[in-house]
Amino acid sequence: MDFIKVDDAACKRDGMCADVCPTGCIELDAEGLPRQTKGAMCIACGHCVAVCPHEALGNSNLDAAGMLPLPESLPDAASVRGLMLSRRSVRVYKDTPVPAATLAGLLDTARHAPTAVNTQNVAYAACADPAKTREAARLCIEWLRGAGVYPHMVAAWDKGRDAALRGAPAIVVAHCPADYAWGETDCVIAVSYLELFAAASGLGTCWAGLLTRAAQASADLARLLAIPEGSVARAALMIGYPKYRYRAVPSRRAAKVTWL
Ligand SMILES: Cc1cc2nc3c(=O)[nH]c(=O)nc-3n(C[C@H](O)[C@H](O)[C@H](O)COP(=O)(O)O)c2cc1C
Repeated sequence: MDFIKVDDAACKRDGMCADVCPTGCIELDAEGLPRQTKGAMCIACGHCVAVCPHEALGNSNLDAAGMLPLPESLPDAASVRGLMLSRRSVRVYKDTPVPAATLAGLLDTARHAPTAVNTQNVAYAACADPAKTREAARLCIEWLRGAGVYPHMVAAWDKGRDAALRGAPAIVVAHCPADYAWGETDCVIAVSYLELFAAASGLGTCWAGLLTRAAQASADLARLLAIPEGSVARAALMIGYPKYRYRAVPSRRAAKVTWL
């Protein structure tokens, strides 16, 4: 059965839907009307529907209710660059919990990040409970203790300092099925989206490489994070309200570019 439905009367035969389709699902017939290609392999990216200015095309592989209107205005390049440059790895947080609804808002934005072949295979462990986040930090440290690595972090924990998650009140861990080849890439892109939106929302974040590694290696931590059997943690963030404001953007090395 065809998943592409065209309203022939509304269609202006501009071929935009066929042009933007990444997999060649749509071809134009002799009259210039879009028709589903035989053996079409749709990845449900939604481009065909979203690009049509005449709303002449439907695709039953998509959740029509999930289509969103475009924002009325977009930030200019200078504002986006300002956001990107002012985002910092925040390691000192206020004692204020992050509401679960706020975390949910970040995740709702991250789900719009690109994924390879639009697989949307990224799943998340999200924790807005400071006590559970602290338990995740403890399990990171216990993993370090058992593995005999980073003894300074273990010693700091034993003295009451959380060098693993820096006392952040919340965490997000992105995970994917272990056998999904683009898992790490998709998770990292999604968490990058989340991090930038968090910064724009007044939150501070820090990539939690140790949490990612520990969640891969410690069954106790994977259980706490409810990472399903067969899935692997690929990216993680500490999240909270920053205690300090930075007055400058730190210097970075020039981009290493070979111009061809
Ligand atoms: C993959 C990755 C893992 C990281 N893991 C940690 C971590 O476990 N703990 C930490 O304090 N910072 C961690 N960071 C933060 C980096 O140290 C930080 O990005 C870098 O020093 C640059 O600072 P900036 O993010 O403020 O530009 C990590 C960053 C990345 C990209």
